[in-house]
Parts: sequence; C-alpha cells; structure tokens
Amino acid sequence: MTTRRHVVLAAGAVVGATALTTGCGGGGDGSPASSDTARESPARTAEPTGSPARTGDGEELAGTSEIPVGGGKVFDGPKVVVTQPTAGEFKAFSAVCTHQGCLVDKVADGTIDCPCHGSRFRVADGSVARGPATRPLPPEQITVTQDTILLAR
Ligand code: FES
Repeated sequence: MTTRRHVVLAAGAVVGATALTTGCGGGGDGSPASSDTARESPARTAEPTGSPARTGDGEELAGTSEIPVGGGKVFDGPKVVVTQPTAGEFKAFSAVCTHQGCLVDKVADGTIDCPCHGSRFRVADGSVARGPATRPLPPEQITVTQDTILLAR
C-alpha cells in the first residue's frame, strides 16, 4: 500500500507529467499511460535473453527452390501449403479446405485444389477460385531466410 505510493512517487520523479496522469486517471483511460510507464522502466528486464529459448525462426518447411513459380507445394504434416505467385514472393496458407475440412492435395494452374468436392483456391491469396468452398484458405505465417522457408507458428 505505502509501497505502491512510494513507487508512483519514484516514477513521478523520472517521468514527470506521465506520473500525474496515471495518478489522476485511475479509472478507464489510465491504461495507455500505464503502458508508457512500464516501458519507461526497463531496469527489471535488462537482459534480452529470456528463459523461453524458442524465439527461434520456426519449423523448416522447404528450400525456396522446391516451390515452383506460379505454383506451390502442399505439406501434409503441418497442413500448410506454400506458394510462390511471382518469383521471390512466397505465401503460405492452411492446407485444410474451408468447405468440409479435407486436405488440399495439389497446386496446379494457379490454384490450390481440394480433392473432395473440387474447390480451388488462388495461389496468390488463398481466395476461392471455384466452390463449393466459399471462404478463403486462412494465411499462415512463414519466414524466408536466404533459401529456406520456415513456418512460424
Ligand atoms: Fe474441400 Fe469439400 S472439403 S471441396
């Protein structure tokens, strides 16, 4: 209780007007000021190396040369399809068809194709090129480092 007041005062000494705003605004609008204050005090976590060492690049999917320009490749394990609509531009989408959940199984003629009922999705953005699916394939996050494509999940 008194400790908290002490901390506010200490922050006030450093931040000045921000501390005043935080002190008065205790109600609804206080949050942005609070986050500013939190950013102002990096003393606690000065070390960038945290315990979760999984800030890695993600799961390696393929080499960039494995993905044909204008086409793509389906990865059954992670259920992801990676496409290369134009040279050097890589995209990734869920390989789970938005119609009834089958896995898409091939990429041909600019579309990602589902074998179950014939839905097709555009390699450029996952949008529906042919039904019965009505919703696009959701995007997946990938990272391309030099010649390797990593799935960032
Ligand atoms: Fe893909 Fe029906 S589940 S078209």
